[in-house]
Amino acid sequence: MAEDLYIAEEGSLKERYESLIPQLQALTADEPDRVANMANVAAALKETFGFFWVGFYRVEREQLVLGPFQGPVACTRIAYGRGVCGTAWKESKTLIVPDVDLFPGHIACSSLSRSEIVIPIFSEGEGEVCALLDVDSDRLDAFSETDAFYLQKILSLLKF
Ligand code: SME
Repeated sequence: MAEDLYIAEEGSLKERYESLIPQLQALTADEPDRVANMANVAAALKETFGFFWVGFYRVEREQLVLGPFQGPVACTRIAYGRGVCGTAWKESKTLIVPDVDLFPGHIACSSLSRSEIVIPIFSEGEGEVCALLDVDSDRLDAFSETDAFYLQKILSLLKF
């Protein structure tokens, strides 16, 4: 199964997401372990789209703590309301940042990151933000509402 993940290298953004989703669904459906599923989602997104950095942050008390990711080493902890991730947590909403240099308080884990999308994940029970998916690109303005739509769909496959 896992080796089949990497066939979606051509086609439009939409087609590539639509090819990836059923594969991730099959890969995660019978696996209850969140860390394993986050790890495979991060790897599949990085391999399929070549994003600069893809990873998860988990809410632990008043901080976000780094979870499974693919890409260069990153900030381990982020405070509530800080940076793009902390702001997406505070506002409980997806943030698309076309130019990270123009986002007040952006946390530069790497100077190569130029644009970013952060999507909150809500716990099934309380409906509160319990984790975030953060995707960074080394290109300006790399993310659109299409990415937001399909990344949210991918996250809905995971149980939190
Ligand atoms: N840039 C993020 C921090 C996480 S790294 O990009 C992996 C932010 O401002 O929250």
